[in-house]
Amino acid sequence: MPPRRHQHQQQPPRVYVTRKLPGDALQTLAKSCQVTLNSRPEPPTRKELLKNVRGKDAILCMLSDRIDAQVMDAAGPSLKIISSYSTGFEHIDVAEATRRGIYVTYTSDILAEATADLTFALLLACARNVVQGDRMVREGRWKVGWTPDLLLGQQVHGSTIGIIGLGRIGTAVARRAGGFGMRILYYSRNRNEKAEAETGATYSDLDGLLAQSDFVSIHTSMNDASRHMINRSSLRKMKKTAYLINTARGAIVDERDLALALEEGWIAGAGLDVFEKEPLPKASPLVRMEKNVVLLPHIGSASRQTREKMAQAAVKSILDVLVVGGGRGEPEPAFCVNQIRRR
Ligand code: GLV
Repeated sequence: MPPRRHQHQQQPPRVYVTRKLPGDALQTLAKSCQVTLNSRPEPPTRKELLKNVRGKDAILCMLSDRIDAQVMDAAGPSLKIISSYSTGFEHIDVAEATRRGIYVTYTSDILAEATADLTFALLLACARNVVQGDRMVREGRWKVGWTPDLLLGQQVHGSTIGIIGLGRIGTAVARRAGGFGMRILYYSRNRNEKAEAETGATYSDLDGLLAQSDFVSIHTSMNDASRHMINRSSLRKMKKTAYLINTARGAIVDERDLALALEEGWIAGAGLDVFEKEPLPKASPLVRMEKNVVLLPHIGSASRQTREKMAQAAVKSILDVLVVGGGRGEPEPAFCVNQIRRR
């Protein structure tokens, strides 16, 4: 199908925003666009999404909104840009959007440093029993005062971290690992020699990384190749004393295999910010594992500063297309995922 031509807009462009965002970016958007906002704390239901996108020029969506051909059909021919308030964009059918001449944008790696911070929070919490210790003190189970062998954990300094995916987030994790005096291994589809030089990370194949690391931390993107990349066979290759940290995407790990590995002691523990199904169902076996598993509600990028910057970026992409570009999509928005050929 040839790319559509965008008509000059008389009315202010119309934008559907699927959640309230931190900071004042949505106020900026409302100065030049007519904004329809789902102001409830929950994501819109599929039905609400399909209804609210109708006739819109832009959708500002979250990673919890599945944006596929049905949503694009529901929006109709006015839709010019799908701007996702996220780094991952696997929830959007990018090929379909490209076919229809619709820009897809994301918030790029604005979240890299915040996510690396949270990765280390999880790593340290696992290694040094931070959450268990907090519970013990609060619940009145700290009976004896200082004790020589209370909550002995794993030494972080001098241990080996294995980073899967050495992009911006993985590199930010490697930098922190250097500060903790860790040996750094990484596995990636492509070698990142610049990051190796900066952080001292050493390339390894995946099996070698799994076998040698005390902490395996996942920072690769979600795609068909990475789905269930960590499974029964890879967990078997890890040290019995090792921890798995995941702040990337839940489905990179086969969660059933992970639960089995934790139950049977193939590995020592896990720190997880992401899950195959979010929110994590209460019935998940991971919820019962209080001693060796730390669970967080997908807050990797959730520092106030980062989330506000992400909001500004998501709004800027929309304004680039609808206001600066006058609806014709020129110049191309910042952080564009796809290439749209304009005529
Ligand atoms: C968070 O997980 C994101 O993709 O922004």
